[in-house]
Amino acid sequence: MDFVASTLRVNRVPLPQASERVPFPGFRDRLTLVTRILVNGAKGRMGQALIHCARQHAGLQIVAATDVGDDLGGWLPQVDAVIDFTHHDATPGVAALCAAAGKALVIGTTGHDEAEKAAIRAAAGRIPMVWASNYSTGVNTLFWLTRKAAEILGPSFDLEVIETHHRLKKDSPSGTATTLLEILGDVRKVQLEEALRHGRKGIVGERTSSEIGIHAVRGGDVVGDHTVLFAAVGERVELTHKASSRETFANGALRAAAWVVGRAPGVYDMQDVLGLR
Ligand SMILES: NC(=O)c1ccc[n+]([C@@H]2O[C@H](COP(=O)([O-])OP(=O)(O)OC[C@H]3O[C@@H](n4cnc5c(N)ncnc54)[C@H](O)[C@@H]3O)[C@@H](O)[C@H]2O)c1
Repeated sequence: MDFVASTLRVNRVPLPQASERVPFPGFRDRLTLVTRILVNGAKGRMGQALIHCARQHAGLQIVAATDVGDDLGGWLPQVDAVIDFTHHDATPGVAALCAAAGKALVIGTTGHDEAEKAAIRAAAGRIPMVWASNYSTGVNTLFWLTRKAAEILGPSFDLEVIETHHRLKKDSPSGTATTLLEILGDVRKVQLEEALRHGRKGIVGERTSSEIGIHAVRGGDVVGDHTVLFAAVGERVELTHKASSRETFANGALRAAAWVVGRAPGVYDMQDVLGLR
């Protein structure tokens, strides 16, 4: 409770006037116009961005802000949805608590292992959740374009993904890069575990046409850059997205929270939220 109050107090951004606050699409088809949200990981970079951005949207209310050691479960009766941007080993427990309380969940955290993913999917049998490696509209457009480009360009183009992030990022490759690789693997109909080449070192031999390269660059304060390289003999295509602010992820996750409350149980992603399917 103290932490919620202090977190919201630390953010001294003035609350916009009602006329300046923008509702997300999706609010109007529900009886409850205010979505009450709990932000988990509130002391972190994304948690702070979420608390800041929520103030600019009519129909959203951050009623709780929790972090390590706080009683998330105790807050659940008072919220409609939980947004989790924490650490991969925290998400299964959050999902189980939300499932038990019947609360919608938006997962921004990345880096889950297979056991953690299975536990999260099990919880999705009881509640609706949006689970996306990247909540930016631009990156979701990149996902769509990557699939189209891979389909159009075909197997004569070599595929490489290059991602760059700030020096404090803990997981690698990024969740967004992993989604891009899954899209490429799906189009090429290859088993990713066999096709992936994580960087290259030493006498690795000539590049085979079946491999997909992934390169993780770390440094400074880069919010997140992703490039998909399609390289053939005589030409290459590069699709690049560069995020310059965490607000793009925060606004997308808030939009997902407004969208997911009241949906049927299951796992949705930002392609669903943005109507790109
Ligand atoms: N999906 C997206 O669009 C997107 C965008 C940015 C970051 N991310 C991911 O979100 C996660 C957080 O990123 P960040 O940059 O805010 O990290 P961060 O390290 O700045 O913040 C993480 C916060 O989570 C808290 N935390 C850790 N374990 C917890 C637990 N068990 N319970 C409650 N709180 C806990 C930490 O104390 C910290 O305050 C990472 O996995 C990152 O890759 C996803």
